[in-house]
Amino acid sequence: MLLYFTVLILCGCINGARWTAEKANAWYAEQPWYFGANFVPSTSVNEIDMWQTFDTATMERELGWAKDINMNIMRVFLHVLFYQQDAQAYYKQMDDFLTIADRFHIKIAFVLFDECWRPEPKLGPQPDPIPGQHNSQWVRCPGQESLLDQTKWPFLKQYTTDILSRFSNDSRIIFWDLYNEPQCSQQVPIVLPLLREIYSAALTANPQQPLTFGILPEPLNASLSVFELESSDIITFHNYQPLADLMEQVAGLRKFNRPLICTEYMARPVGSTFHINTLFFHQEKIGAINWGLVAGKTQTYFPWGSPENASTPLVWFHDIFNASGKPFSPYEVQFFKDLDGSITTISTSVTPTSTSVTPTSTSVTPTSTSVSPISTSNIILIDMLLLFFCLFIF
Ligand SMILES: *[C@@H]1O[C@H](CO)[C@@H](O)[C@H](O)[C@H]1NC(C)=O
Ligand SMILES: *[C@@H]1O[C@H](CO)[C@@H](O)[C@H](O)[C@H]1NC(C)=O
Ligand SMILES: *[C@@H]1O[C@H](CO)[C@@H](O)[C@H](O)[C@H]1NC(C)=O
Ligand SMILES: *[C@@H]1O[C@H](CO)[C@@H](O)[C@H](O)[C@H]1NC(C)=O
Repeated sequence: MLLYFTVLILCGCINGARWTAEKANAWYAEQPWYFGANFVPSTSVNEIDMWQTFDTATMERELGWAKDINMNIMRVFLHVLFYQQDAQAYYKQMDDFLTIADRFHIKIAFVLFDECWRPEPKLGPQPDPIPGQHNSQWVRCPGQESLLDQTKWPFLKQYTTDILSRFSNDSRIIFWDLYNEPQCSQQVPIVLPLLREIYSAALTANPQQPLTFGILPEPLNASLSVFELESSDIITFHNYQPLADLMEQVAGLRKFNRPLICTEYMARPVGSTFHINTLFFHQEKIGAINWGLVAGKTQTYFPWGSPENASTPLVWFHDIFNASGKPFSPYEVQFFKDLDGSITTISTSVTPTSTSVTPTSTSVTPTSTSVSPISTSNIILIDMLLLFFCLFIF
């Protein structure tokens, strides 16, 4: 019996355990409001291409644009195939990437696995994008073959433990997102057991950064969500819906009393927009990581399911800048600049101006309000117009 407890205690020391809610909330209280994007350089067609070509000039240029709009976090996908090929070389590359991001004071959230899009990832030169198609060459990690072959799973666990151990103390990494959208390939009964294995492998590494699995707007009592909510140190989630839906999801997730970071949102024609949804995240201190910094070879400015040879939509689906650095919307960029990272509402920043004007003459006040870059009512108006425009076009 004593031996049993000794073993338990020893294991407790060696392996990490899930953070308590108190620890997670104390950690989050020390953090700024995180605002950023999922990052793939515009010259890369998928996550393999990003690490394969490792176009540092483009990374630096584009992370510089992110910094200019006050972004301080990027979510970046890794791939096990590089670890398999040469783990040391991959650590070096990850380290080089972190150094570049750090130069712009941008923290990185790495994603280790992903169940979305193409099932057969391969190293080597990646195919060109299919014209007009959204994310036409993105690949899963692991591939379907490794997923179905459980003799490959110990290797996937080793990848998890090794990567997390190697960077366990690296303050440039803000959290580990262990598995992107595990339900995406619609084989949860196969993926969920792998998730459990990966989670235990991650705990073995006992990293200083929090661990998370992203939640989707689906019933929180589904077996996948239950597992994700029971194992995440901080709660991350995806939501591409309009504000009402987002607020409902957040209300459900708040019950778990842990920090919230939205790791995917923003699809303009669907009604998930910066002016509305990001403002809500800002006011709630919920981290906000949208899909897409620069419109490039992933072609995520096209909508989900766009057919081959579709013409460029008037209203981009995702993404903020074109590959020359021109923003899709100058109003969005102005809005980002007004969100200075501190938790103040937009209307608060407008107040001082109008107050200081008031003594001179009352008639000046309305002018100063309308001059202020973005007020909440303008934001809603812009969004209504945009939505109306979309409805009209499509
Ligand atoms: C990680 O950091 C902690 C505290 O800062 C320190 O105690 C520990 O030795 C470090 N571990 C490694 C592997 O550097
Ligand atoms: C989940 O909760 C809903 C009600 O909110 C209930 O109808 C459903 O049966 C539950 N599902 C499971 C798997 O518990
Ligand atoms: C897309 O355009 C290319 C080049 O014009 C053409 O070869 C191809 O057949 C087109 N694909 C479809 C599905 O129309
Ligand atoms: C970005 O937009 C500007 C202005 O419309 C245009 O001149 C430039 O060619 C665009 N760049 C790319 C790579 O599409």
